[in-house]
Formats: sequence, structure tokens, C-alpha cells
Amino acid sequence: MPVTKIVEGIYWVGAVDWNIRYFHGPAYSTHRGTTYNSYLVKDEKTALVDTVYGPFTAELVKNLREIIDLSKLDYLVVNHIETDHSGAFPEIMRLAPQAKVYCTQRAAEGLQKIYQGGNWDFNIVRTGDTLNLGAKTLTFIEAPMLHWPDSMFTYVKEDGVLLPNDAFGQHYASSFRFDDEVDIHEVMDEAAKYYANILLPFSALVLKKLEEVTNMGIDIKIIGPSHGIIWRQNPGRIIDAYLKWAKGDADSKVVIVYDTMWESTHKMALALLEGVQSQGVGVKLFKMSVSDRNDIIKELINAKAILVGSPTINNEFLPNIAPLLDDLKGLKPKNKIGMAFGSYGWGGGAVKLIEERLKGAGVALVEQSGLAFKWVPTPEELKQCFEVGQQVAAQVK
Ligand code: FEO
Repeated sequence: MPVTKIVEGIYWVGAVDWNIRYFHGPAYSTHRGTTYNSYLVKDEKTALVDTVYGPFTAELVKNLREIIDLSKLDYLVVNHIETDHSGAFPEIMRLAPQAKVYCTQRAAEGLQKIYQGGNWDFNIVRTGDTLNLGAKTLTFIEAPMLHWPDSMFTYVKEDGVLLPNDAFGQHYASSFRFDDEVDIHEVMDEAAKYYANILLPFSALVLKKLEEVTNMGIDIKIIGPSHGIIWRQNPGRIIDAYLKWAKGDADSKVVIVYDTMWESTHKMALALLEGVQSQGVGVKLFKMSVSDRNDIIKELINAKAILVGSPTINNEFLPNIAPLLDDLKGLKPKNKIGMAFGSYGWGGGAVKLIEERLKGAGVALVEQSGLAFKWVPTPEELKQCFEVGQQVAAQVK
């Protein structure tokens, strides 16, 4: 992908990964690919801010060589050491051994452990430290746990350009670089998925960091995250979305997730769905065996209620429900209500276990939770599901 000028003297020099379909091992589905954004700030001195995932090193080097002589690169700023951004670090440092590395203390320790054996000139920075490049100045802002302990943001004051690494990013491959060039609904969909699956547990820190950045009087004209599209037309759009997600504000919406063995739990799920729908409340239904867990989690950040259903098998819920419940426990979504439902044969148990898992994830159970029916639900029992759907709808309105 060609080098792209962001503003005079700041260039995107990264790589587009069209084909990646899973990120963080199997943990995160990336239906729309991703990008590894790397930025070159060129002034009297030159600074490269972040590199790319290792397999894309040659692309980064090619892009850099279009603009600079790597043997004259002055600084390499490492906002974050995760491999998708630091994979090319050793090769860049081999080609530019004179470059001084600017990063947090934790990043320096991490880089030495991950890429063992290098003799690199580390310069440790703290929030408010600056690096003068000539007419441009870099300001560093530590951002621990957004989303790793080493994370930091780099801000180019004279241009109002914030380079916050993973924050405000999206796994979205495109031939375009900017928010005003693409379908913004697709981009916001991926930004929501990114926040829900990666940043959600750190929401309190997100709010604190946004407040800190505001108090620093930072004027943000452009946000260049390390994945996806650069926010230049409307950076406020993604900042407002982060405020909403971090506060746990959601829409009047319900998500139903379930699986079924012989259709009984399926019938219950449909009756609940119809009950919610009948009240004019938005509801989405996901059968787990044909759905993507990460997409469900994305839907959940904009919903107020989650209804989880499974029949009982071997005194447990179905095994494919477990990964979602495990994720919820780690992600700890705020301000959600929920319930469990399901059918059983000779012995129950799944519904109680789901309730325990929901409670463990911080979901407040509605009083109607615990709908469990033997063998096949009767018309009266399905009517009861419908009515519970109506009652849940009333609670999220
Ligand atoms: Fe935390 Fe995009 O890496």
C-alpha cells in the first residue's frame, strides 16, 4: 500500500493485512482484515512511531526508503510492544542502529525480553516528556492498560495529531486511509467490536485517560490509531463513542444467545424474541453454533439485556455456550441485566449454572430468570416465555 501523507511531514508507512481472519490466536475474529499503522514524522530530525507485524517488515522498509535513508533515522518511538506493532522492531534497528528508542520503562523491559540479544539505546519517557524534532514536537502520554502495561500515546502538538496505538482502532483493511473515504458505518461497527472485545475491561481507565487528555489541553485534530482508519474528518465521533462504551451506556436493545439439542430451547428463544419484539424493542438472536462469539460481544455493548439459553446435558449447559460465558467474565460488561433459560429431560441444571456465570460477569439477573421446562415446552409454557420477553423489554425501555 503506498505511503500516504497525513499532514505535511507526517506519513503513514504501514501495511494492510487483507487476509487475517483471526487475531490474538483464535481469540478474535477479523472478518474485514486489519492494518498495521506505522507513522513517520519527518522534520530536521526523523522519528518512526511504531512498526508493523513481522511478516510485513519488507513493506514497512520499502515505504520508509521512499522517504528517508534508514541509516539516518534518528528515533524509533514504541508506543506498544505487542508483536503486531513491534514485529519489525529488530529489523528496523538492524538497518538503523543509530536510532534512539523512545518508550516507557515497561516497553523497554518487554522489548529486551521479546527480542533478546539487541544492544539498543533506550530512552525512557513519562507522561509530559517531549522530544523536539525541529518545527515539530512529540509529547508522550503513558496509557498503562490501554491495553497493555507498556502502552503509551504520542502526540504531535503542532499538527494536533494523536497517535494512540491500539486505542480508537479497528480491524479494518481498506485501500483508503481516512474516515472520510470509507463507509463509516462499517468502520464504527469494527470500532465497536474492537472496544467490546479488547478494551471493555479497562473502561474505567479509558474514562480516566480521556479526562486526563482533556485536562492536558490537548487539541486533537487527527487521530491515527495503529489499526484501521485514521480519524481526520471527525475524530470526535470515535471519542464520543468511547465515552459511551466506557460509561456502559447502551441502547434499549436485547441480545438472545442460545443453543439447542432437539429444538425445545430454540422454541423458547423464539418465544422470548417475539415477546421483546411485541413491545417495539430491538432484539437480536444468535444461535451459538452458527454465530461468531466476537460479533455477539460487539452487539452486547450496545444492548441493555442478555438472555442466555441452553438445554441440560450431563448436568451442564452445552459446551459451545461456555466460551461466551468465559469471555463475559473477563470483559465484565457494565450495566447489563440478564437471564437464563432452557429445556431439560430427566434432570435440569444448565439454567442455574448459566445464572451463576452471568452473575459472576456482573450481569444483574431479572426476577423472571430461571425459565426451565421439561422435555418439550407446552403452548402455555411458550406463552410464559413470550410474556417474560415482554417484561424484559419493559425493563430496557
Ligand atoms: Fe495490542 Fe494492536 O496490539
